[in-house]
Amino acid sequence: MRLAVLKETQTSERRVAQVPETAAKLVKAGVSVVVERDAGLAAGFDDAAWNAVGASIASTAAEAVVGAAIVVGLHAPELQLAPGTLLVSFLPPARRPSMATAGISALAMEKVPRSTRGQAVDALSSQATVAGYQSVLLGASRLPRLLPMMTTAAGTLKPGRVLVLGAGVAGLQAIATANRLGAQVSAFDVRAAVKEQVQSLGAKFVEIDGVTSAEGAGGYAKELARDEQARILVTLSRVVQQADLVICTAQIPNKPAPRLITAEMVAAMQRGAVIVDLAAESGGNCELTRPGEEVLTPNGVLVLGPRNLPSTMPLHASMMFAKNVLTLVQLCVKDGGVSLDLKDDLIAAMLVTHAGEVRHP
Ligand code: NAI
Repeated sequence: MRLAVLKETQTSERRVAQVPETAAKLVKAGVSVVVERDAGLAAGFDDAAWNAVGASIASTAAEAVVGAAIVVGLHAPELQLAPGTLLVSFLPPARRPSMATAGISALAMEKVPRSTRGQAVDALSSQATVAGYQSVLLGASRLPRLLPMMTTAAGTLKPGRVLVLGAGVAGLQAIATANRLGAQVSAFDVRAAVKEQVQSLGAKFVEIDGVTSAEGAGGYAKELARDEQARILVTLSRVVQQADLVICTAQIPNKPAPRLITAEMVAAMQRGAVIVDLAAESGGNCELTRPGEEVLTPNGVLVLGPRNLPSTMPLHASMMFAKNVLTLVQLCVKDGGVSLDLKDDLIAAMLVTHAGEVRHP
């Protein structure tokens, strides 16, 4: 059975969906792994690294997918795949109807259930981990100050204050990273369960009276009532104003990101402060965020709205994604061929197109 690893075509994408270490495991299990030329180069793997583990190199994507039962990528490829191919990638809803029409069975990596069993396949979490870490490094590198407290012969420097909004996977990683850099970290989330996790990482939890836990289905947050949202903004105005670096990660599935920092709040921040808004692509937690852009306000606050941060750390982001994909592929291969158990809760949740139909419209 043949599995094709394609080179990503989006210009900003540097990750690859398999790495030599995971490809070696597939080869050992009898899978014939074909990698498009230079597919791993941006992530740090040249073609010789794939050859060394028994994978072969195809000159083009079209050549790589010939006879492939499984095609893996970060994003769904533009090229036509043969009917019956199993595609494993992130697959936004807009791409699903054409995949169904083409007879592709597609497992969407963003549909992994947030369950204990799903953890090993959970690409949203693995990539959010990288994004959370990188967001702090990005913000810290743009600050005009150091983050740790320092007592030196040239005087004593106070620690920087980092505020993390939203303490899911990315937010918790941002807290841990800011802590390692020696900052004074505080965090806020609307889910009550998060308080203990924030505190266990050594950060202060920002309490807001009258905001009950907004935990919705699947452990995700739900939208807040208007009065709760107003109360949050009042408290956050105070803490945002004091922060040197704000990392925004608050998201609500299938909804615009909650607005937690208004333009007025930014205007009250100190000169040199930095906001890194990881929710930029879903509307931003900060009113001034522009996806993919840097905004410098008249009072000297820098608002960054980075897109696809995991791609800027392509080695480890690829290694984690590749492990997620490997675990999933191992679930789908039986007796040398693809066998999808539609009763398996992971497969059932992730299989967005199958037998010519969109299963999760
Ligand atoms: P996410 O990316 O959907 O949202 C990030 C954070 O923003 C969440 O913690 C959410 O509560 C928070 N948020 C939403 N609205 C907010 C507001 N108005 N103000 C402040 N914060 C707000 O979340 P992520 O990281 O994808 O995690 C979602 C859930 O899944 C969490 O409960 C997490 O613990 C859980 N999870 C479970 C896993 C498992 O058991 N396999 C793996 C990963 C996550």
